[in-house]
Amino acid sequence: MSAQYDQIGVKVADWDVLPVRSEYIEGHTYFKALGSVKGQAVLDLACGDGLYTRQLQARGANRVVGVDISEEMIRVARETEAAQSQGIEYHVSDVADMAPLGVFDCVTAVYLLHYAHSPEHLLRMCRNIHAHLKPGGRFVTYTFNPGFSAKGPNSTRYGITMLDFPESPWEGQAISAELHTKTPFTIHFSHWSQDTYEHALREAGFRDLEWMRPECSAEGLARYGQEFWQDYLDNPHAVALRCER
Ligand SMILES: C[S@@+](CC[C@H](N)C(=O)[O-])C[C@H]1O[C@@H](n2cnc3c(N)ncnc32)[C@H](O)[C@@H]1O
Repeated sequence: MSAQYDQIGVKVADWDVLPVRSEYIEGHTYFKALGSVKGQAVLDLACGDGLYTRQLQARGANRVVGVDISEEMIRVARETEAAQSQGIEYHVSDVADMAPLGVFDCVTAVYLLHYAHSPEHLLRMCRNIHAHLKPGGRFVTYTFNPGFSAKGPNSTRYGITMLDFPESPWEGQAISAELHTKTPFTIHFSHWSQDTYEHALREAGFRDLEWMRPECSAEGLARYGQEFWQDYLDNPHAVALRCER
C-alpha cells in the first residue's frame, strides 16, 4: 500500500481542487462531523500530503500530528511544513503498527479504513486509533461508501470513476477507481461492508457509531446549484463516520 502512494506523490494535489473534494462536499461534511478542534490535540491519520492536517492546525488545534504509510507523502507534507511552519509533526507508519504518539482529544482519518487489506488489519488499525484517544475522545473518518451502487450514478463528472464496480461486491473485494487529475491515476483499495467496519470499531472499544452521508455546503449550492450535485449526493463515493471512545 505504501508503494501505491509513493508513486502517486504530488499528483494527489491536483485532485484537491476538484469541487467534490473541497469545502463544498468532503471538507464541509468532515469538519461538520468533527466539530470544533480549538485548543485540542488532534492526530490526523492517512494524512497524505497534509491537506487536512494543516487545516486542523489553522482551525485552532493546539497539537497536530500527521501519520501516513507513504514516505513520499510525508516527505511532501514535511516540505510544506518547512516552507510555512505551523508546528505540525509528521510520522511515517502503517496505522495498524503505529508506535504510541501520545493521547489525543480526537483522531481523524480522511480515506484510511478502506485501505485495510483484511478484517484483521482493519481491527489492528481500529485498536491503535482507540489507544491514542483519551476517554470520551472522538474518531472521525471519511471512508469509501459501503453502500456505493453500481446501478447509481458514477462520480465521473466530479473527478472520480469507480472502474468495473461489481453489482454485489464481496467482503474484501479489490476495488479500483480512477482519479481525473491533470495526470490521471488509479487507486486500489478494498470493499468492506458497514457491518465489517462497525464490528471492528466496536471490537476495538468504540461506541456511539454514527454514519453521515456527504452534504453540500451553502457555498457549494450557491456556486453550482442543487442539480449539479444531485447525482453525487444520490450515490457518493465516500461517507463520514463518527464514534467515541
Ligand atoms: C486518498 S489519500 C488521503 C490523504 C489525506 N487524508 C487527504 O485527504 O488529503 C490516502 C492516504 O492513505 C495512506 N494510507 C493507506 N494505507 C495506510 C495505512 N495502513 N496507514 C497509514 N496511511 C495509510 C496513503 O499512503 C495515502 O496517503
